[in-house]
Amino acid sequence: MEYITLNNGLKMPIVGTGTNTYGKENNDYNGAVTKNEIPELVSALELGYRSIDAAIMYRNEELVGRVLAESTVPREELFITTKVPASEEYISSKEATRAAIDNSLKNFQTDYLDLLLIHFPIEDKVQLKNTWEVFEEYYESGKLKAIGVSNFGKAQLDELKEFAKVKPAVNQIQINLKEPNADLLAVLKDEGIAPVAWGPMKAEAHQQEVLDEIGKAYKKSGAQVLLKYQIQRGVIVIPKSHNPENQASNLDLFDYVLSAEDMEKIKNL
Ligand SMILES: NC(=O)c1ccc[n+]([C@@H]2O[C@H](COP(=O)([O-])OP(=O)(O)OC[C@H]3O[C@@H](n4cnc5c(N)ncnc54)[C@H](OP(=O)(O)O)[C@@H]3O)[C@@H](O)[C@H]2O)c1
Repeated sequence: MEYITLNNGLKMPIVGTGTNTYGKENNDYNGAVTKNEIPELVSALELGYRSIDAAIMYRNEELVGRVLAESTVPREELFITTKVPASEEYISSKEATRAAIDNSLKNFQTDYLDLLLIHFPIEDKVQLKNTWEVFEEYYESGKLKAIGVSNFGKAQLDELKEFAKVKPAVNQIQINLKEPNADLLAVLKDEGIAPVAWGPMKAEAHQQEVLDEIGKAYKKSGAQVLLKYQIQRGVIVIPKSHNPENQASNLDLFDYVLSAEDMEKIKNL
């Protein structure tokens, strides 16, 4: 595993696993959380994943937390991210946000989370300020090791900057070959905010063909080339898979380097 050092010194694994469909009927995002086990999460931990991307909105936090707590992996080896939704129930008051964080701590059976994000931009300036102040409060108390945002654009990051005492450590946004988000990535680099790519596997068929072709020279699949491209330029990835073979392949990225020429070729896709 390789790590990215966040702007507060905390080290985050550069590859983690998503969880948004885990434990759900038909592995469907909108499906009911009917399962009592998550074999995919168990296999991810066995394969060596330590960074787990969760969210209150996924409705499976309690189950994900239980699987992690029941595993043999010590808490200090795990890097747990979760997200507070930008909806009234969680941001209407500071008390509501505190209750959400306390409940997440309970779900993960832990006294700290490694990273907490605001899941989507909060339109109301007062609510945004109140929410971030609660994040800062829990950060200062050590219950959150890092705090950040998700799906924030430049304007929303600027708004946060007006009052934030603690700078967001990450911005989790869609980054893939269909939605490269290059301008925002450049902003994040300038600001010292680490980019985390959600939906990293998405690519058009013609892009996939080129990735497969590039992979042949390295004895890697197109999917592996796609993830390698992101991590080689410092983008943290959290691919999600229900298939242990794909989970293993998504971690098998650290024994080679893509040439500058191939990096350029992928960028131009
Ligand atoms: N912050 C946000 O707003 C936000 C939004 C969306 C997602 N997320 C987070 O980001 C995580 C990842 O995003 P995502 O789940 O939407 O999409 P993703 O990871 O880009 O793609 C998942 C799909 O890729 C396939 N896949 C994975 N590895 C593969 C491989 N090596 N070869 C071929 N196919 C492969 C999976 O199929 P198999 O199961 O068959 O392998 C699955 O269908 C989520 O789980 C969630 O935690 C956050």
